[in-house]
Amino acid sequence: MKQTLLRIREEALRALSENGADLEALRIRYLGKKGELTAVLRGMGALSAEERPVIGQIANEVRAAIEEEITRRAAELKVAAIEARLASEKLDVTVPGDEVAVGHVHPISRIQREMEDIFIGMGYDIVEGPEVEYDYYNFQALNIPPDHPARDTQDTFYITDNILLRSQTSPVQVRTMEKRRPPIRIISPGRVYRSDAVDASHSPLFHQMEGLVVDRGVTMGNLKATLEMFARKMFGEDTRVRFRPHHFPFTEPSAEVDVSCFACGGKGCRLCKGEGWIEILGAGMVHPNVLRGCDIDPDEYSGFAFGMGIERVALLKYHIDDMRLLYENDVRFLAQF
Ligand code: DAH
Repeated sequence: MKQTLLRIREEALRALSENGADLEALRIRYLGKKGELTAVLRGMGALSAEERPVIGQIANEVRAAIEEEITRRAAELKVAAIEARLASEKLDVTVPGDEVAVGHVHPISRIQREMEDIFIGMGYDIVEGPEVEYDYYNFQALNIPPDHPARDTQDTFYITDNILLRSQTSPVQVRTMEKRRPPIRIISPGRVYRSDAVDASHSPLFHQMEGLVVDRGVTMGNLKATLEMFARKMFGEDTRVRFRPHHFPFTEPSAEVDVSCFACGGKGCRLCKGEGWIEILGAGMVHPNVLRGCDIDPDEYSGFAFGMGIERVALLKYHIDDMRLLYENDVRFLAQF
């Protein structure tokens, strides 16, 4: 019996040290109620009175030795588990991070925001109008009756006889004057559509920014000062502005407005094609018929309006010589801005 007990101890200790990961299974196998040690102790009844305490003591020692080993292994396994976890969760904060590709604002939007900021600084509100528009707002209310030749200069996409894709942002002037009473001071940026073939300076979809001011005593002088201020902020402090007489049905008088070439300062270069001046917008004093159509009395109020191409400003400011680059959205191009 003593031999059996010593063998159990030896086996148990070996099992614990060799593959003692499942400690609970080993404990049950050797020390449990149906375990090997218990089985031996059950046979103690057959021993003589002298043998019993001797074997009993050995049995206790064997049990204590196995228990101690189990406890020791448990502690050992716990430390090993913590070390494994620390190793697997180790984080090297000095490793360079993965670069996250973040986009940025498109050059057209960027220029538009810059333009908006300048006018917001002068007290203008931003209003928006629909891109699918009535003929009435795009033409008639702007003093362009059905057979007016000005309609030919803007090749318009018609959806029905009286619904179209707006060819200019000027209809927002009318929509605004219908809803608000003077003083009015707004800009309206947005998309416009014309049935033009795509080339370096044309696109069937482009962007304009309309401006409208209506109040008592508004003059052409105010228009000039406003556009000068805008041009200086947009293109640089030395920029000068020039008005050339022109005709728009919805303004009287009307002008096309040039800025001095900010690339050569007015001497003449490739950007301004030797002119020294670059056309950036159309403008004028709101025609009395337009005011009247919106129930604003032209004897009491006057106003000025202007409209400029946002792409045009972007091309000039960024020295881009082909408008198509702005729409193709080649990231190698866009990333330069
Ligand atoms: N709507 C004109 C165009 O698309 C630009 C324009 C000219 C707008 C004169 C105006 C203006 O408000 O007063 O060519």
